[in-house]
Amino acid sequence: MHLTKEEEKTLRGGDGETLRKMIEILVALGDIYGADALIPIKSSQVSGVSYKTIGDAGLEWISDLKGTVKVPTVLNPAGMDMNNWERLGIDPEFAAKQIEIINAFGRLGIDPKCTCTPYYLNGFDVQYKDHVAWGESSAISYANSVLGARTNREGGPSALAAALLGKTPNYGYHRVENRRPNFEIKVDFETRGSDYGALGYIAGKLAGSNIPLFKLKSVPTRDEMKMLGAAMAASGAVALYHIENVTPEMKDKEFVYEKPSESASIERKEIDAIYNAPSDVPNDIITVGCPHCSLEELQKIKTLLEGKTVIKEFWIFTSRELANQNKELISDIEKSGAKVVCDTCMVVSPAADHFKCMRVNSGKAYAYVPGMCGLKATYGSIETCVKDATGEI
Ligand code: F3S
Repeated sequence: MHLTKEEEKTLRGGDGETLRKMIEILVALGDIYGADALIPIKSSQVSGVSYKTIGDAGLEWISDLKGTVKVPTVLNPAGMDMNNWERLGIDPEFAAKQIEIINAFGRLGIDPKCTCTPYYLNGFDVQYKDHVAWGESSAISYANSVLGARTNREGGPSALAAALLGKTPNYGYHRVENRRPNFEIKVDFETRGSDYGALGYIAGKLAGSNIPLFKLKSVPTRDEMKMLGAAMAASGAVALYHIENVTPEMKDKEFVYEKPSESASIERKEIDAIYNAPSDVPNDIITVGCPHCSLEELQKIKTLLEGKTVIKEFWIFTSRELANQNKELISDIEKSGAKVVCDTCMVVSPAADHFKCMRVNSGKAYAYVPGMCGLKATYGSIETCVKDATGEI
């Protein structure tokens, strides 16, 4: 990989030990994957934030770093609501470690906003063809597919290295020739709402790490595409997908590709099987907000909960910024007894680990909750989640 004189100096340690370590990570990745150079990025999102997932070794690694990020950088969800961690029964020792982690990131100039939907944040705009270095799998998928920006699947250290250097190696999804679809998926029936999470759960298993091109009968909203991509990144390793006539590259006449030679089709009965999959234990907790809820999703939940009281734990995850901007909406939702939780989620927090079965409306949560939290999971639409929480089913 070609390095400029300035970058070579950084690699020799001329800009300090932290930047030497950081450029070493990027050069190693660039050499493995055949990058030609380091290219500037517009923003970074660093994963590996929850104390549940990185532990003491991760905390120590971050704490040793010095310097300031060169581009706007935010964080993936942490292991708890940073302002209100007692409410979900987080252990004080866990909380102390989590606070240390966030403070260590803060010392590097990172904005301590912990969300997997950074694209909703003010001032964190991403445009078509922008290069970014994001670390959370659903955010990566959204950036690449829905926004048409360009990011590889960054790990915590490589996203942090990119943030501190303001650059990333030019390989993988940063290059247009690696963004062409190679797996066609046909869906010959109408899809809406949580159908997209179930569809993504099935499609991810079929596609693996390929780049699917969907031929859909319905036109999904951005929130529906968010659910589709999140699920495919969890049940498979899909970091970029296209939807015919919908996603930005499919509308770009300069984006040339051949019809994929591999293909599959998904049938309605496969989606229904996910909705109807039985559990031998009843749901004792309901969660929505994987990925973090948008304003439209919060408004829908408010409407569905109006005049009702929950009889089971019902947790709704969103970003703190959105919650702060919509205090009345959050308070209306919480009148039902549901809890709106910020900075974290059902998967990266240990808060739900003692429950037995979680109802979710997210294909990603459905894929991860059993393995990462040790609970069973059942799947339902947002309407079903509310009915379950309020005892209507
Ligand atoms: Fe976000 Fe947690 Fe789901 S990080 S995408 S809410 S598993």
